Amino acid sequence: MEVELFGAAAWSPQSLREEITGPGRTYVGAVLPDGRLVGYAGTWFDGYDVQVMTVGTDAAHQGRGIARRMLVHLLDAARTAGAAAALLEVRVDNDPAIHLYESLGFTRLGRRRGYYQPENADAWTMRRDLRAR
Ligand SMILES: CC(C)(COP(=O)(O)OP(=O)(O)OC[C@H]1O[C@@H](n2cnc3c(N)ncnc32)[C@H](O)[C@@H]1OP(=O)(O)O)[C@@H](O)C(=O)NCCC(=O)NCCS
Repeated sequence: MEVELFGAAAWSPQSLREEITGPGRTYVGAVLPDGRLVGYAGTWFDGYDVQVMTVGTDAAHQGRGIARRMLVHLLDAARTAGAAAALLEVRVDNDPAIHLYESLGFTRLGRRRGYYQPENADAWTMRRDLRAR
């Protein structure tokens, strides 16, 4: 699923394993009744802010609210853990993800030129305050 969702930017199985078990990481998966994984998302909390590390939903199951539900859960958990804000980067041409993040209250902070390599694609940095009511 990682390769299907992220193509050349996909993490290797080893990178993914190290990422999921890394310090401060929280990962959630969306699982069908038959046990199939159809989505996953994760954050890294450094004690101050939480960084959204990844989110993806299997193509056949997109558009059903799975990513929204995973991120709401992770952001609630981060707020409970004491995170002041949530941060993320997203490719400037990734409209579905940008709509998702904006609908969850993220706003654009700035543009990072050539953030994604080797494609040399720009990223928006986005932020959401977790303490605001
Ligand atoms: C971005 C992604 C995670 C969304 O997953 P999803 O489970 O389909 O998202 P949801 O069904 O929860 O949709 C939540 C919101 O996202 C936005 N959205 C989702 N798909 C969209 C699309 N094709 N076009 C525009 N907006 C879209 C909408 O705002 C939607 O809210 P709405 O249904 O109330 O309009 C999914 O498209 C994906 O896995 N993409 C490939 C990996 C990726 O780019 N991840 C993000 C890296 S930064």
